[in-house]
Amino acid sequence: MNTDQQTLNIHLAQAQPSATYRMMDRVAARRACGAKVISLSAGEPDFDTPVHIREAAIEAIRAGHTRYTQVAGMRPLREAVAAKFRNENGLDEVTWQDTIVCSGGKQVIYNALAATLNEGDEVIVPAPYWVSYPEMVQLCGARAVIVTCGSESGFKLTPRALADAIGPRTRWLILNSPSNPTGAVYTRDELAALAEVLLAHPHVLVLSDDIYEHLIFDGAAFHTIAQVEPRLMSRTMTMNGVSKAYAMTGWRIGFGTGPRWLLEAMEKLQGQQTSGASSISQHAALAALTGPQQFIGETCSVFEQRRDLMVRLLNETPGLSCPTPGGAFYAFVSCEGLMGRTTAAGTKLCTDDDVAAALLDEANVAVVQGSAFGLAPYIRIAYALDDDALIEACRAIKRFCQSL
Ligand SMILES: Cc1ncc(COP(=O)(O)O)c(C=O)c1O
Repeated sequence: MNTDQQTLNIHLAQAQPSATYRMMDRVAARRACGAKVISLSAGEPDFDTPVHIREAAIEAIRAGHTRYTQVAGMRPLREAVAAKFRNENGLDEVTWQDTIVCSGGKQVIYNALAATLNEGDEVIVPAPYWVSYPEMVQLCGARAVIVTCGSESGFKLTPRALADAIGPRTRWLILNSPSNPTGAVYTRDELAALAEVLLAHPHVLVLSDDIYEHLIFDGAAFHTIAQVEPRLMSRTMTMNGVSKAYAMTGWRIGFGTGPRWLLEAMEKLQGQQTSGASSISQHAALAALTGPQQFIGETCSVFEQRRDLMVRLLNETPGLSCPTPGGAFYAFVSCEGLMGRTTAAGTKLCTDDDVAAALLDEANVAVVQGSAFGLAPYIRIAYALDDDALIEACRAIKRFCQSL
C-alpha cells in the first residue's frame, strides 16, 4: 500500500473501481490512439431521450424551476412515482410519502445500504451481480456474502441457496430482475419461493432492483417481490428509475419505495450529502412517468430483435456459448471453450480477463469480463448498438475466435 492509499478511508481503499467504467476508459484510450473500437461494454440504451421529456426539461428551465427541491424529491414527482408503483407494480398502498427520489438508481441503493449497515453486517449478493453491489456493501463497512448462481439455475438464486446463505448477521438480500449482467428474469413462482424462505427470517431486508423492469422479452410479465408477497412489503426497498426505461442515464433520477423508517433515514443521509436531485431532471422524470409511454414498448421490441440476432451470431462462434437472456440488453456468454488457446498475437487465454483484453487489443471490440460480475469464464456483451454495429462486432469476435 503506498502513502496515498494509507490516507484513504479503509473501506474505500479496499473497494474496487467499477470494472465497466474501467473498460470505458480503456476504450477511450484506444480510440484516442486512432483505433476504431466497437464498444459492447456500456450499460446504457443507445437511444435519445424522447423529445417530450427533453422539452419538459427546457420548459422547467424557462419557468425558473432551477432552485433546490425538497430533499426526498418534489411532490408532483413523488406522486407520479407512487402512482407508478401502484399501477404498474400492484403496490396498492404506496402514497407519495412512501417514496424517495434520488440522483440515480445507484444513489437509492447506496443510501439504503449506508442508512442501515454496520460493521460486521452481511448482505447476500447473488452472483453474477451488478458490479456495484459488493463494492457498495464494502464501502459501508459490511460484508458481501456472494452466492454463486450458475447457468444450471439460469443464473438465478434458488430457495435452498438463499436459506443456506442467511445467518444471524444478514441484513439484506439484493435481487435484480431482469439482471445485469445475465438478462435473467425471475418468474412469479420463483419469487414466491424465495419469499417463502424470507418469511422465516424477519431480520432480513430485501432490496429489489427493478431498473430493467420494462426491458422484458417473449411476452413475459414483470414481477417484483413485494407484490408477489405483500407480507414482505414492510421490509422491502423496491427501487427503480428512468435511466434504462426512458433512455435517461445522464439525467440521474432514480426512486424507491419502502418502509417509512428506512425512507426517513435515507432522506436524512441525502440531506447531508447531495440534497434533492437536480430540479430540472426531476421535471423531465415527471414528464417521463406521466407522458406517452409508447417509447418503452418500441425500444423493448428493438432490444428483443437485437437479442435474437446476438444469440444466433454468438452461438455460431467457435468457443462461445450464449444462453438466451429474458430481458435487459446484455448477453452473458460463456468463453470456456477459449480457455488455454493462444491468440494470433501470441497471448495465451487463461482467464476471461485475458479474453476481454485480447478482444479489445486484437479485434477492437470491447466487452467486460464475467469475473467482474462474480462468475468466470464469461464475457458480458451489451447490445445497445444498432444492428450494423452489432453484426460487425460479432464478425470481428468470430474472426478472433477462429484465429486461435
Ligand atoms: C442493475 C443496475 N441497477 C442500478 C443501476 C443504476 O442506474 P442509474 O443510477 O443510472 O439509475 C444500473 C446501471 O447500470 C444497473 O445496471
